[in-house]
Amino acid sequence: MYTPAYPNLFTPFKMRGVTVKNRIMSAPNMLFHTVDGRPTDYYIRYLEHKACGGAGIVNLGEVSVCDGGNHTPGMHSTIDNLPLFGEMAQVIHEHGAVASVELTHGGLNVKAQYNEDKDKMYGPVAGVNHFGTSVRAMTKADMDYVADKFAETAEFWLHAGFDTVHIHAGHGWLLAQFLSPLKNTRTDEYGGALENRMRFPLEVFRRIRERVGSKPPLMARISGEEGAPGGFTIEDTLEFVTRLQEYVDLIEVSTDDFSGIFATPYSPLGQNAHLAEFIKKSGKVKIPVYTIGSILSAEQSEKILTDGKADGVSMSRALIADPYLPKKAREGVENRPCLRCLNCTDSDNRNKHFICSVNPLIGREERLGFGAGGESPLTKGGNKRVLIIGGGPAGIQAATTAANLGHTVRLYDKNPELGGWLRFADIEGTHKNEIKLFKVWLINQLKQSGAEVHLSAEVTQKIIDEFAPDNIIAATGSSPVVPNIKGIENAHHATAAYFEPEKIKGEKIAIIGGGLIGTEIAIYLQNLGKRVTIFEIADQICSDAGDMLRLGILKSVFESGVEVKTGVNLTEIPEGFDTALYATGMTPNDALYFELANSAPQVALIGDAKKPGKVDGAIHSGYFAATDV
Ligand SMILES: Cc1cc2nc3c(=O)[nH]c(=O)nc-3n(C[C@H](O)[C@H](O)[C@H](O)COP(=O)(O)O)c2cc1C
Ligand code: SF4
Repeated sequence: MYTPAYPNLFTPFKMRGVTVKNRIMSAPNMLFHTVDGRPTDYYIRYLEHKACGGAGIVNLGEVSVCDGGNHTPGMHSTIDNLPLFGEMAQVIHEHGAVASVELTHGGLNVKAQYNEDKDKMYGPVAGVNHFGTSVRAMTKADMDYVADKFAETAEFWLHAGFDTVHIHAGHGWLLAQFLSPLKNTRTDEYGGALENRMRFPLEVFRRIRERVGSKPPLMARISGEEGAPGGFTIEDTLEFVTRLQEYVDLIEVSTDDFSGIFATPYSPLGQNAHLAEFIKKSGKVKIPVYTIGSILSAEQSEKILTDGKADGVSMSRALIADPYLPKKAREGVENRPCLRCLNCTDSDNRNKHFICSVNPLIGREERLGFGAGGESPLTKGGNKRVLIIGGGPAGIQAATTAANLGHTVRLYDKNPELGGWLRFADIEGTHKNEIKLFKVWLINQLKQSGAEVHLSAEVTQKIIDEFAPDNIIAATGSSPVVPNIKGIENAHHATAAYFEPEKIKGEKIAIIGGGLIGTEIAIYLQNLGKRVTIFEIADQICSDAGDMLRLGILKSVFESGVEVKTGVNLTEIPEGFDTALYATGMTPNDALYFELANSAPQVALIGDAKKPGKVDGAIHSGYFAATDV
């Protein structure tokens, strides 16, 4: 008899006659449209992938309800796009999920370049935002216009075939701005007391419901709290939601605070669950309450539900890392863990094609296809002999993928353990639990693939002659660059803090180099009770991190009390410190590749050995080197 591991998570329910098959929502991700507002096949296939993976509700990302409300180029809700939007809904339906689209208005946070009618750029009050865009204060007529645009756009998307519409009333966008006592300083009936601040947002929801009628379900994304002193509180939000439930059938509780939206590994998991819990346990809200924010596994989700903190969970990055998480949870298969590295958000924010560090296929479905289980879309039946040198993330990924494709694979690593530099995540206090889980998952995948693994074993000519590989893949990693400054012979590479702690003497530690590695080790040591100073030549630290990750790490630097000195070009080891460490870059270990370049028909160089970088470079190059075999 089948015994479900996560009975609460997989309990279906109905929203106004629409059946939702489980309690997992794929959160909004705005991606892959053209600059003139058309969705691309990339977007449609991405949504299909999400639906195939088993989420109960699959959301499209934000769509602005009108010109004047755009903070990105966005998709246009126009009749010429209707067939493509219909196809989006269709692919979601065909795999059994509920199709939803998120509607928003940027208000104070719009960007002038994405809005034609500059007079329609407005918010609760006038101001100039951090993009340098000037917005004016909304009149009553503007509010009527925007409320009608919300209603009209909701009707449009329902007509396109979507089952529901997710109204964005959180994350500091227009409706949340009205709720905020900090931002909404109006003195008329739309500002001041909570009753007044709720008036316009509630009117928007009322108009939508009036326009679409009682049949379709509606959902709302809200911020549980503003997360700033003097901002709206969870008590205010409860009051708002108590009124909102007249119009909507589900609320998803996030936060207005950016570090609570885009959390790094330095934040706890499920960092917003207490906000959903407050609303749910008040007993005043009768509609399903979902929580969003660092929900990374079925176990964690089930516990949230069992503890009565929420009725469902919404996941964004966990389903980017592995869209098949719901399906795998049902079948007792481990999902590919998300690292909370924010690479996806940062590549997206920089208008680059979106990249996930651990999932080479996501976002590329249109080009590469995708298969059941989210693994290789390519045909199996490989018959090559593949020799992989190096058991770090690149080598493991290459070996696993090649073996899964049917090739005969041998992996050699001179170290006694697999994992390469990911092994540092095993150390207590590094805040790298996600990397640790990922390392364990990678190694498990390798074991299941059937690749032969040789540890504490260097590759010799004898081994090559005997195995006679068709392909050699060199994944030999990288080594630290030693800065050429006076006294460096008395310093150690910063990773000594992890792997050779006996070398860290005394209290006062200098770290030369404030990239990600130096900064994260500085936080680690400071949290161990040391007094750490970072010396960085550039005018800022962590410039090798994307914007959102950098923001999160800087918060941790500040909270930990690490001292930062930027714009410092050291010519010698600084005085007055007990231990000096350096983290001034890595250089590829590629000598073996050059040595073996003619030892097999195909020889590839991957991971740090090709270009020192982060997990994404290792995993992607390992995966594609294997599919190229
Ligand atoms: C690539 C990407 C695109 C996103 N796009 C949207 C969006 O269009 N609308 C929105 O409200 N949130 C958007 N978000 C935020 C997520 O919906 C979610 O709130 C956030 O990632 C936190 O959830 P998580 O910890 O499960 O990732 C996006 C997040 C990512 C990673
Ligand atoms: S890029 Fe990083 S944060 Fe984003 S989904 Fe992938 S692993 Fe998670």
